[in-house]
Amino acid sequence: MPPGVRPPRPPLEPPRESQPRKGGTTAGEGQEGGFPPERGFMCGIVGYIGFRNATDVLIDGLRRLEYRGYDSAGVAVKTPQGLRVVKRSGKLSALEAALKEEKLEGPLGIGHTRWATHGAPTDPNAHPHTTEDGRIAVIHNGIIENYLELKEALKARGHRFSSDTDSEVLAHLIEEKYRGDLFEALREALKEVRGAYAVVAVHQDHEEIVAARTVSPLVVGLGEGEHFLASDVPALLPYTRKVIFLHDGDVARITREGVEIKDLSGNPLFREAVEVDWSLEAAEKGGFPHYMLKEIYEQPWVLENTLGGRLVEEEGDVDLGLELDPLEVDRVHVVACGTAAYAGLYGKYLLEALARVPVEWDVASEYRYRDPVVDERTLAIAISQSGETIDTLEGLREARRRGARTLGVVNAKGSSLTREVEAVLYIHAGPEIGVASTKAYMAMLAAMAMLALRFGRARGTLGKEEAQALIRELKKLPRLVEEVLEKRPLIAHIAEKYHQAQDFLFLGRHVQVPTAYEGALKLKEISYIHAEAYPAGEMKHGPIALIDEHLPVVVLATQGPLYEKTLANIQEVRARGGKVIAIATEGDEEIRKLAQDVLYVPQVHPLLAPMVSVVPLQLLAYEVAVLLGRDVDQPRNLAKSVTVE
Ligand code: M6R
Repeated sequence: MPPGVRPPRPPLEPPRESQPRKGGTTAGEGQEGGFPPERGFMCGIVGYIGFRNATDVLIDGLRRLEYRGYDSAGVAVKTPQGLRVVKRSGKLSALEAALKEEKLEGPLGIGHTRWATHGAPTDPNAHPHTTEDGRIAVIHNGIIENYLELKEALKARGHRFSSDTDSEVLAHLIEEKYRGDLFEALREALKEVRGAYAVVAVHQDHEEIVAARTVSPLVVGLGEGEHFLASDVPALLPYTRKVIFLHDGDVARITREGVEIKDLSGNPLFREAVEVDWSLEAAEKGGFPHYMLKEIYEQPWVLENTLGGRLVEEEGDVDLGLELDPLEVDRVHVVACGTAAYAGLYGKYLLEALARVPVEWDVASEYRYRDPVVDERTLAIAISQSGETIDTLEGLREARRRGARTLGVVNAKGSSLTREVEAVLYIHAGPEIGVASTKAYMAMLAAMAMLALRFGRARGTLGKEEAQALIRELKKLPRLVEEVLEKRPLIAHIAEKYHQAQDFLFLGRHVQVPTAYEGALKLKEISYIHAEAYPAGEMKHGPIALIDEHLPVVVLATQGPLYEKTLANIQEVRARGGKVIAIATEGDEEIRKLAQDVLYVPQVHPLLAPMVSVVPLQLLAYEVAVLLGRDVDQPRNLAKSVTVE
């Protein structure tokens, strides 16, 4: 744990459950229009070799990776009768039921949860895939781009396929390359493969697991006389905290005794083991009904973690431990996706306000293709919870290729992004499991505020006293966020009132524009209600046409220089019969006359108001989604980490 960072608090008392669930659909209950579009591969991978019953470790690990989203699951275990595979479409419970019938016992195995891309979520398409003789089993996360040509060639050479997946080619290719050494066979096979993968293979005759990654994450867990493999750390936490994050191009051989890593050309590599400081409890629900709610409630201590040890009030500065000299930077490019992008937009407002440095902000998927103007005095800031989002990584790489300096604002330690940037500002939000990002957003906002403060001080655009005042306000944030969390009953009441709405509009100005975007994103992600967000001043240029008595309009109307202008926008909404839910500063009685519903947030410096204002929007989205019976933690079509373009 870095100096000054406090350990997580014990879990909060779970708050009361809100209203009972009503009707609605549940994600995962059949995708409208067939299986999910081909947009991501978020499958879960677990491997085990040691002395325990592998099946138990695999199922336990896969359960901890459920947040990644999946639609089928399977395991391959080396039993005394040989390598045996059981796989089923649907949730893990279907696989467990099958495993009751067909018990697989043995100390070596691999398990997988698949999120369908190539081929529907059926039993044959579930992983593991085996060779015709069943001696080699493979699981794969990613997309093999040249699988069609590989498959045709393999078929022409006599291989028979039993699935529609791209992944199955790997089993047959490895078989072709096999000359008695599984590790070498994998390495040789991968030379013919184009695409993204975390691939894991086992062979009936070998006491080892072999694995490789390019793009898709893989982590090796180190134990005593046992070793583990997983696509994410939570699967390993009950067994070990000592891990090795494999890098792109790494090929690993995992035995009971140790781990051997080489590059694709066969050169030995040394990868340092690191201790992850996430407790198992931190990675589990801690008594809350959903991870998302738990994570919303963790935000006060997340803020303490992010800010802790970094605020130096006496000097009116922050200590971020960054080597980067702000005086070497003439302009900043912020690249990120989704929620992280909105945190980046907030960063733009703050960097410009406090450090007077010009900032361009892009969603990463646009940035990487828009031919940006970059020079060596440009600082590219990539923001990401997972550190594995492919568009963000590629946006960053594009900036770096053009000569930019690079900074990552990241949550996941050891993730790909952290390895590709010159400097990393960790946000220390802890594991975020809910697909809808909440606490990572909060931590990103705090990190961007500190970064702007540092740049402002270094560039001489922010005076010591003004900085000290901001630092004092930053220090108050954990307590203020706690106060907002106490308003959940009122928020649940408002959710009850509006949860049948077809559409929502979110409006804000200045630093509250990103809050409006984030509020709308949260609502649509988990409730599937259409929600749009606009800068409030832009409303009369189009969205005003939508307003009628059926449209709830959430307005960020906290105190600040643009408060009066926001009130004018509220009046425009009211004049057209729209229903206003205002997020306002405590003590603002005026607003009660204009808005149907008011959610008060505590007074804080206007530049920091987004940290207290986003909390009621997260809770509103949560309560609406629960009322509609949605799968809050695993909303349909979404995955936690989008590692494909
Ligand atoms: O891991 P990242 O922060 O890079 O992820 C970026 C987005 O994919 C992510 O924020 C996404 O929008 C979430 N579903 C938001 O709740």
